[in-house]
Amino acid sequence: MVRLRVLTTSDWPLWREVRLAALEDAPYAFKSRLGDWHSGGEERWRARLALPGACHVVALLDGRAAGMASGLPGERDVCELRSVWVGPHARGLGVGDRLIAAVRVWARASGATALRLAVFPDNEAALALYRRNGFVATGEPGDLLPDGVTRELVMVNGLR
Ligand SMILES: CC(C)(COP(=O)(O)OP(=O)(O)OC[C@H]1O[C@@H](n2cnc3c(N)ncnc32)[C@H](O)[C@@H]1OP(=O)(O)O)[C@@H](O)C(=O)NCCC(=O)NCCS
Repeated sequence: MVRLRVLTTSDWPLWREVRLAALEDAPYAFKSRLGDWHSGGEERWRARLALPGACHVVALLDGRAAGMASGLPGERDVCELRSVWVGPHARGLGVGDRLIAAVRVWARASGATALRLAVFPDNEAALALYRRNGFVATGEPGDLLPDGVTRELVMVNGLR
């Protein structure tokens, strides 16, 4: 059974466990590196969860951490979907859909009109998940990747 948990700052050990698992499992999917966070202490993890106006969700499958997603305030009335990850043992079960739905509910409740994200353009599983959940490419140029040529793909999903 999949259960979602919206985290508070005191949940930082759970957030650390899941975030480090994500960075270890899928370094190809994130700009952050495992090494950037491995040495972080309690204060750093708490600070991430204490970002004003943000939402952090962890999915638990049969009580075991299975995925995560964050919603962050963006520019004007557009919120950002970040740090989406589903553990290999939980993929294909709709956990990504549940996490996105939870962030969408939070974004709408915080007054946003759209949810925006950036994804590496060769991340087919993530692209399929986002398209299935109604995200479309905006056409705007995303951040340049380390190869100096490829850019992140920016996608958006209206909330109205
Ligand atoms: C992206 C991710 C969250 C999707 O997990 P999920 O929600 O369980 O989604 P699913 O396993 O159902 O896969 C989503 C879609 O991708 C497809 N897919 C899965 N693995 C794939 C692969 N290696 N190549 C191409 N397509 C793939 C599935 O068939 C599914 O397609 P569908 O919508 O047509 O059915 C998960 O793969 C993951 O955590 N990956 C590593 C981290 C990551 O990429 N995060 C996103 C950062 S932007």
